[in-house]
Amino acid sequence: MSRELEFTRLRNLRETETVRRRNAETSLSASELIYPMFVTLGSGVRRPIEPMPGQFQMSVDVALEHAGLVSEKGIDKILLFGLPQSKDAVGGTSIDPDEAVQSAVREIKTTLPDVTVITDVCLCEYTDHGHCGIVTSDGQVDNDATLPLLAAAAISHAEAGADIVAPSAMMDGQVAAIRAGLDDAGFKDTRIMGYSAKYASSFYGPFREAAGSAPQFGDRRSYQMSSTQSDEAMAEIEADIREGADFIMVKPALAYLDVIRRASERFEEPPLAAYNVSGEYSAIKAAAANGWIDEETAAMEVLVGIKRAGADLIVTYFAPEAAEWLERGD
Ligand code: PBG
Repeated sequence: MSRELEFTRLRNLRETETVRRRNAETSLSASELIYPMFVTLGSGVRRPIEPMPGQFQMSVDVALEHAGLVSEKGIDKILLFGLPQSKDAVGGTSIDPDEAVQSAVREIKTTLPDVTVITDVCLCEYTDHGHCGIVTSDGQVDNDATLPLLAAAAISHAEAGADIVAPSAMMDGQVAAIRAGLDDAGFKDTRIMGYSAKYASSFYGPFREAAGSAPQFGDRRSYQMSSTQSDEAMAEIEADIREGADFIMVKPALAYLDVIRRASERFEEPPLAAYNVSGEYSAIKAAAANGWIDEETAAMEVLVGIKRAGADLIVTYFAPEAAEWLERGD
């Protein structure tokens, strides 16, 4: 006598490509992606970033052309990082209206007004010691002394025409200081994307080579969060929201998908971004170059995973390629 087996036929949900598509719980579109670009002074410069294949340090003219190309693919949000001409202890060039970021913002907003231009606001690319704030004589990063400098940098980006400024220095009160500074300077509509929960991460390694921003002594553990922390991430995000952030962020993405999920459930507003950082990009690129992994499917699996975890927006170096993959998949 045979016993009746009882089970649910969930495989029906994935029998064919059509069925799989119809049942997709998570969708991803190019309009949810933000593309980071590295800009420098000069002209005709397109310097490959070795640990980040496919990414370049670009002079403003090249960056403008590149922004045009990616926007045609449907990527209409870019995040700019600058490589300044010179560095000093207080990051003086971060407020120079003729520096790379400010020039790139002006050019891009003039020629491509529909592209949303976001600027990274931090001092590490502009200081000779590579820390994200001012360093005291005993080697500490001085939180409160750094705030007016971050506000001044944000104002100079707003003057150039930035739509959104994105403070990534992890100084307490940076969103409040920038909001107050922007408002006083007449930029009430410039929005702020806080890098709210930013962890001290090995996965920033390739970026620091790209941006020339590695700390020259010590590390960033006194201001960026430890990977052991999740409640603290919620406190950081809450603080940014209280200070007036229009967007919040968890960074990096992959080792912190639980933090993304928790933040997305806890804070319905404002929109939540996740940063698929340089090391996460480089790891896939390197494995793919060795033939160990399929780049397209691996990258899309990661991006869908970040979206499924709860991100509304994803900052990713894969943005232009992902737009092409999405277009082809349609
Ligand atoms: C600047 C900054 C960093 C990144 C974004 N903004 C580097 C850091 O904090 O050392 C990392 C981005 C990436 O790895 O892709 N503070």
